[in-house]
Amino acid sequence: MNTKTLKRKLKNREIIFCVTGLGYVGLPLAEVLLKKGFKVLGFDISKQRVRMLNRGKSYVEDVPDEIIKNSLKKGIFRASYDEKIIKKADVIFICVPTPVDKNRVPDLKYVISAAKIIKKNIKKGHIIILKSTTFPETTEKVLLPVFEDKNFKEGKDFYLGFSPERVNPGDKIHTIKNTPAVVSGVSKKSLIFIKEIYSYITNQVVPVSSPKVAEMTKLLENIFRNVNIALVNELALLCERMGIDIWEVIFAAKTKLFGFMPFYPGPGVGGHCIPVDPYYLSYKAWEYDVELDFINLAARINESMPYHTVNRILQTLNHNNILPGKAKVLVFGVAFKKDVGDPRNSPALKVIEILMNKVKKLSYMDPYIPEIEVKGKKLRSLKMTSSNIKKFDISIILTNHSVFEPEFILKNSKLIFDARNLFKSIKSKKVYKLGSS
Ligand SMILES: NC(=O)c1ccc[n+]([C@@H]2O[C@H](COP(=O)([O-])OP(=O)(O)OC[C@H]3O[C@@H](n4cnc5c(N)ncnc54)[C@H](O)[C@@H]3O)[C@@H](O)[C@H]2O)c1
Repeated sequence: MNTKTLKRKLKNREIIFCVTGLGYVGLPLAEVLLKKGFKVLGFDISKQRVRMLNRGKSYVEDVPDEIIKNSLKKGIFRASYDEKIIKKADVIFICVPTPVDKNRVPDLKYVISAAKIIKKNIKKGHIIILKSTTFPETTEKVLLPVFEDKNFKEGKDFYLGFSPERVNPGDKIHTIKNTPAVVSGVSKKSLIFIKEIYSYITNQVVPVSSPKVAEMTKLLENIFRNVNIALVNELALLCERMGIDIWEVIFAAKTKLFGFMPFYPGPGVGGHCIPVDPYYLSYKAWEYDVELDFINLAARINESMPYHTVNRILQTLNHNNILPGKAKVLVFGVAFKKDVGDPRNSPALKVIEILMNKVKKLSYMDPYIPEIEVKGKKLRSLKMTSSNIKKFDISIILTNHSVFEPEFILKNSKLIFDARNLFKSIKSKKVYKLGSS
C-alpha cells in the first residue's frame, strides 16, 4: 500500500481496525474509531469481556453501553477471542497490560504473547501500533524480531510503530480526541502511515524520530508525576512533625503563576501506570550501567506511604483512647483514584492489607467497587447510610470520590482520619489529616 491508497481508504472508511486488548486503553480507542465510522474488530483473550461486549455491555466507565450496542447493530463492531479475526484487519493496535512482577521486574509476557498471536495471523501490508507503556527499545528490540524475518521486512511487507496512550480514565475534559498523540515508526514509511491514521483519532499528531523516543516520552510523563508526588509526600511527613498543614502550603504555593504545578500527598500511588513505570525505566537503565537513584528513591518514598498512613491511623486511635485491637474501622474509597472503579495497585488496598490484622473489624464503602479481595479475604462494600457509618469507631478517607460528602461523613462519624484532604473546608476536632499534625 502507498500513502495515497491509505489516505483514500481512510477517507472512505475502508480501513478495518483490530484492537488487541480491550481494557481501559483499548476500549476507549475502539470507541473513538467507531464514532468516526470505522469498522473495528476487538480481539481479547478474556472470554468474559468478549461476551459482555458482544451483548452490548461495556465494563469501562468512560465507554457507554450505547456506543457498543449501536455499533453492533450497525455491524461495524465485533469482539472475539478467536485470533483469526486479526487477519481481517488492516491496522492492529496492541493495548495489553505491562505490569511488574512481585519483585518489581517488568513483565512483558502479555506484549510478547499478543505479538506472537499477531505474527501467526500477519498478512502483507499490516500496520501494527504498540500502545502499551513500556521501556525504550521494546518496539525495535522485542517486537520487531517477533514479526520480521528474512522474507518479511518492516517498511516493505509490514509496518510497525509505537504511540503511547495518554488517556486519563474518569477525565471528562482531556479526551483521546483533544489530547495530542505522540507517534513513531520503525521505518519512515511506517511513521507516515501512523501519522495518517492518527489524524483520524486526535486533533494534534506529534511525530517523533523513533519508537524509543516515543517510549521514553511516555515514561518521562508518568515518572514526572511519580517524583513530584514523592516530593510532596516527603514534605508531608516533615509538615506533620513541624505542625504545618501541607495542604495549606500547597494551596498557597499554587497561587504562583509560573514555575509551579501542584501535586498532592496521599496514602500512596496506584493504578496501572504511576507506581509501575519507574521500574520499567530503572530495569532498562541497568543495561546501560546507569542506576536511576532519584527515580528509585521517589518510588520508595511513595511505597512507604501506606505504612505511614497506617501508623497515623493507629496513633489517632490511641490518642482518642481507642485500643487498635478493639477498634472498628471503616474505609471510604478503595479505587486508586477519585471517581473511577479501578482498584489496580490501589494504595487503599495496601493500607487495608496492613491494617486488617491490627484492628478488630474493618469494612469499606466504595460505590464504584462492590467487592475486593485482600489477602484471600473477600469484603463487600457497605451502603453509604448514616446507620452504617455510626457502627464504626473511625472513618478513614483513602479515596476522595466526589460522592463522599464531608458534612454527611462528619455528622455520622465518631472520629475521622483523612488521607486525601476531603475535609479541606471543615475544621473539626474529630478530623485528623495526613500531612498535618
Ligand atoms: N489504564 C490507563 O489509564 C492507562 C493509561 C495509559 C497507558 N496505559 C497502558 O496501556 C496498557 C493497557 O492498560 P489497560 O489499563 O488498558 O489494561 P487492562 O488490563 O484494562 O486491559 C488489557 C486487556 O488486554 C487483554 N489481553 C491480555 N493479553 C492479551 C493478548 N495476548 N491478546 C489479546 N488481549 C490480551 C486483557 O484480557 C485485557 O482485557 C498498559 O501498558 C498500560 O500501562 C494504561
